Amino acid sequence: MVKILNRKKLVPNIHMIEISAPDVVEKCQPGQFVMLMPDKKGERIPLSLADWDKDKGSITCVFMAVGTSTQKLTRLNQGDEIPVCVGPLGKPAEIDKFGTVLCAAGCYGIGAIYPIARALKKAGNTVMTLIDAKAKYLIYWEDRFKKISEKYFVSARDGFYDCKDYIPKVLKDVLEENPIDRVVSIGCTYLMYTCSEATKHLNIDTYVNLNPLMVDGTGMCGACRLRVGKGTKFACVDGPEFDGHEVDWNELFYRRKSYFDDEIRSMCYWERTKKQRK
Ligand code: FES
Repeated sequence: MVKILNRKKLVPNIHMIEISAPDVVEKCQPGQFVMLMPDKKGERIPLSLADWDKDKGSITCVFMAVGTSTQKLTRLNQGDEIPVCVGPLGKPAEIDKFGTVLCAAGCYGIGAIYPIARALKKAGNTVMTLIDAKAKYLIYWEDRFKKISEKYFVSARDGFYDCKDYIPKVLKDVLEENPIDRVVSIGCTYLMYTCSEATKHLNIDTYVNLNPLMVDGTGMCGACRLRVGKGTKFACVDGPEFDGHEVDWNELFYRRKSYFDDEIRSMCYWERTKKQRK
């Protein structure tokens, strides 16, 4: 059992959870993830590492409440325990001196990209950040990104940042006006696909941290398989970071929908039986 040190809502539908995991924190690197089980009867779910504190022995993940298991996580609070926290898993993100790196993120990816952006800055890169959100009230950790970013861009539709455009238009403008050597993108599949498409004809290296369905997270079940270039890869052990220009996006979109109906049924059942569990 591992103890929850903090769990709070960052913005509507996006939560952070800090867990005491001294064994995990010793080996954490940017771009990796952990597998958690919110309760003994639940499924294992992958969550990207958003931060960690070696002195405290804790790791922090940011997640979106999107299915039954993540909804269960939102019901847990400081002092509660969860039965499983395995990690760190996956290969770390590539950190080197690339020049100017644009970190583009949205949703849970804002948290997940933070340790990568921080490590890239530490490695001597000029870091620029592009955050995508529907509106200002869905953006979090702005202060953290502003501290490490040479330039900070937002694509939001509420006009708060003098912008009402979606990410393809904002990204195009950013790429036209800034000499970018590499793009790293984390967020929903559409955001990562968009970033990869926008940079392809410009020959800008673009790396995405993919989020296919996972079951074991250790390369044994095959649930997370995807096509990258000419080969089949398992996101949990070969990734989750991949060359965005090589990813078979159509297959990834299709496979991510595989259990959509079951997920809805599961949520409905969980909501229906809520009273019995109280
Ligand atoms: S989650 Fe099972 S092989 Fe990757």
